[in-house]
Amino acid sequence: MQTIKDDIAGRVVRFLTEKGVPADMIQENNLFKRPEKDAFGDLALPCFPFARHLKQAPPKIAADLKAHLGDIPGVEQVAVMGGYLNFHLDKAEMFRALYRKFQEDPTRILEWREFEGRKILVEFSSPNIAKPFSIGHLRSTVIGNFLQNLYKTLGSKVIAVNHIGDWGTQFGKLIVAFVKWGDRDELAGDPVQHLLSLYVRFHKEAETNPEMEEAARAAFKRLEDGSDAETALWETFRELSLKEFNRTYNRLNVHFDKVLGEAFYRDKLKPVIDTLKEKGLFSISENAVIVNLEDYDMPPCLIQKSDGASLYATRDIAAAVYRHDTFGFDEALYVVGAEQALHFRQFFKVLEMAGFDWALNLHHIPFGLYRFQDGKMSTRKGKVIFLEEVLDEAVSRIRNVMEEKNPDIPDSERASIAETLGTSAIIFNDLKNDRVKDIKFSWDEALNMEGDSGPYIAYSYVRCRGILDKSGNLPMVDQDSVAISHPDEATLIQKLSQAHGSLLLCAKHRKSHFLAQYLLDLTHTFHSFYHSCRVIGDDPAQSSFRLALVELTSATLKAGAGLMGMRLPEKM
Ligand code: ARG
Repeated sequence: MQTIKDDIAGRVVRFLTEKGVPADMIQENNLFKRPEKDAFGDLALPCFPFARHLKQAPPKIAADLKAHLGDIPGVEQVAVMGGYLNFHLDKAEMFRALYRKFQEDPTRILEWREFEGRKILVEFSSPNIAKPFSIGHLRSTVIGNFLQNLYKTLGSKVIAVNHIGDWGTQFGKLIVAFVKWGDRDELAGDPVQHLLSLYVRFHKEAETNPEMEEAARAAFKRLEDGSDAETALWETFRELSLKEFNRTYNRLNVHFDKVLGEAFYRDKLKPVIDTLKEKGLFSISENAVIVNLEDYDMPPCLIQKSDGASLYATRDIAAAVYRHDTFGFDEALYVVGAEQALHFRQFFKVLEMAGFDWALNLHHIPFGLYRFQDGKMSTRKGKVIFLEEVLDEAVSRIRNVMEEKNPDIPDSERASIAETLGTSAIIFNDLKNDRVKDIKFSWDEALNMEGDSGPYIAYSYVRCRGILDKSGNLPMVDQDSVAISHPDEATLIQKLSQAHGSLLLCAKHRKSHFLAQYLLDLTHTFHSFYHSCRVIGDDPAQSSFRLALVELTSATLKAGAGLMGMRLPEKM
């Protein structure tokens, strides 16, 4: 199918070139769009970009092109629609292309090469030590993990980095609080919870006792200066917290190449600060070192506090330089909530002003907030919602439904399926939305087995596997005699071959919902096909062709869900 498309593209380009359209106006690998509706065909060529040069209306260009192209092998029909020329490809030919790829390796059915030779750094998750993993970090984690998987499947090299928040003045507060009220056993039992309660207690005490803040500043200063006692405590906090985070990452099927906390850049700040200084970027304001960004309509970027302590932005600047030197990325993506947009604009600009022209390849990938609407979580208004609670709640709700609907499954198996479905539900519910929008979270929507949900994708996949299991050993499809006998077969083939386009859309916009919507569309198309076409019938050739369509659907769902970080159960 790829080759038919290339063939058409070649012919179109020759036509346009002969007509004198300059080469730089023709983007050979970006000529086509997906038609607005599936019924309009498989490829749409917009003729608008050439109208001015050819001094002709787009519909006239489309008609001339159609007459010129004549018959093209693998193309069923060419139709002028307004300013577009639409191509309907031969569905048997499309099927063969998909099936060949499937036969090579079903698990790599969504692998392509568009991004080969590129190196993309994706920074995501980045929770803070001694603070619970919040919903904001969940969003960063699933979106970033999806982007890492997406770029890999398109052939890019990816470096997945977790920028742990493990440095800053709050560690002074924690150290003071721990020395005063901490408990080693409690810390070992539930480190994140214990540290959080110490942090809260510190702030309460500091309201009436101003010496607390002073003590915290001093403790952090000792930590920055490398004092043994403070460093040992900090290391314990860090290690115990990371262990907990890793548990969550395992549940979510997320992996990093590098886990480098802010503290890692401690000894890398000075050279960077020196460079900024040499470039004459520094001003002093209220004893602090800043970079003035008035010319860019932004507040100043804070580099160094009056006591010499480094800041969040300083560490980010040093991290960017280190990453560029170490990994040599083509672009770096920072998957962080929209509320930090200004911070990224500021330090990107500072890097650019310092003469690092690669700063233009740094991109903030923002996302909106989570809003809880119904059920237990909404009663905790104003409080931080912990990710683990949400995952546990999803899993327990699914388990209840399963107990009711499928009481015969052994308990241990049910528990593991519920874990898979529950986490997948939360992941899909996030990734199905345009990331920049807020998510209005509803349990009914996220877990709805019949709705646009992760469990529904899983259900469709399990259904495919069930059909395949029942089929026994039917002969392989004889590719030369593929015969399409029902329009729903053709529609399913068309839908299956749109997977690639949906990945490219995701990559272009760095968004996941194109794939999520595509997977839902695919399940709907599959269910209509299954409803109208008997898969295993009397004609063995037809049965094996239809089974192959089920195989392709199952492999596409599995690979697509896999890109999103979802695991799918084999039964439920
Ligand atoms: N730890 C930070 C937070 O939780 C997010 C870090 C984002 N990444 C960065 N390079 N600043 O708010």
